[in-house]
Amino acid sequence: MTTPGELWLREYHDRKPDSQSVLIEAGKVVGDGRASYDVFAELVGTPPRVLDLGCGDGALLATFARQGSAHLAGIDLSAGELALARRRPELASARLEHGRTQELPFGDNAFDAVVSHMTLMLMDDLDRVVAEAVRVLAPGGVFAAAVGAGGGSGAAKVFFDLSKPMFLAVPEEHRAPVRGDRRTRTAEGFDEVLGPLGFEPVAWDEIVVDYTAPPEQVWATCTEMFYPTSTLDDTTLAGLHTAFLDETRDLITDDGVVPAAVGIGIARTRLAG
Ligand SMILES: C[S@@+](CC[C@H](N)C(=O)[O-])C[C@H]1O[C@@H](n2cnc3c(N)ncnc32)[C@H](O)[C@@H]1O
Repeated sequence: MTTPGELWLREYHDRKPDSQSVLIEAGKVVGDGRASYDVFAELVGTPPRVLDLGCGDGALLATFARQGSAHLAGIDLSAGELALARRRPELASARLEHGRTQELPFGDNAFDAVVSHMTLMLMDDLDRVVAEAVRVLAPGGVFAAAVGAGGGSGAAKVFFDLSKPMFLAVPEEHRAPVRGDRRTRTAEGFDEVLGPLGFEPVAWDEIVVDYTAPPEQVWATCTEMFYPTSTLDDTTLAGLHTAFLDETRDLITDDGVVPAAVGIGIARTRLAG
C-alpha cells in the first residue's frame, strides 16, 4: 500500500521531474571532478543486468549504459520522472516500471546488480525493499546504494543550520511525511539490515560533492536539495533567504563564490554465491 511519504514524494517529483538529476550533475566530486553518478557507477563496475531502485529520470541508468551494462531496468513512484527517463536514447531498450520498490515487478534472480542513488534513505519499510532486492538478485549479485552522509560544509552547513528549526516549526499537517530509515546512514546500519539476508559485510566509501558557486546559486542548490524547503510558507522562506545571504557574506571569496559541499556515503556488498 502506498504510504503518505510515498504519496508526498510522488507529487513532488511529478511536479519537478528532473530537479534531482540537474542538481546531482551540477555537483563535482572532490578529487575527481565528475558527478556522483559516474563515481558510483565506476565503483559498481559493469554488471550485465542492472536494476535501479528509485531511478528518477534515468540519469544513473544512462551512466551504466555508457559504461557497458546491456540490460537495464528501473522503477520509480513518479510517472513524470519515468517519462523523462524514457526519452533518453541510452535507455531505449530499458524496462522502466511505475511502482513501489517494496513490490518489485521483476522475476526471481533477474539481475546481477541492484543499485540505488540518493533514494534508499527515503524509503519506508526498508526491510521489505531489501527482501525484494534479494529475491530479484542472482546468487553473487551486487547491492549498492549511495546515500546522504556526514552533513554539509561551508554555505551548505549554513543553510542546514538555519533551516532545521524552521522545518521543525512547520505545522504537522504541512510537513513532508518522509521518514526514511536511519540504518541507511552508516556501514554498521547497512550490515544490520543486509547481513541476516546473506550479504557480505558492506564496503563503505565516502565522497564529498562540491557545490561552490555564487551565493544565489548555492541558495538555489540548497532549496532543491532539502525536500522540506518546499513546506515553508513564503514569509518563512523569504526570511531564510535573507538570513542565508547575511550569514554567508563573510564566506565570499575574491572570485565571488562561497564554498559549499555535501557528503555522500556509498555502500557496496554482494550476496553470498
Ligand atoms: C532524490 S530522488 C533520486 C532519483 C535518482 N535516483 C537520482 O539519483 O537521480 C528520489 C527518487 O526516488 C523515488 N522513490 C522514493 N521512494 C520510492 C519507492 N518506495 N519506490 C519507488 N520509487 C521511490 C522518487 O519518486 C524519486 O524519483
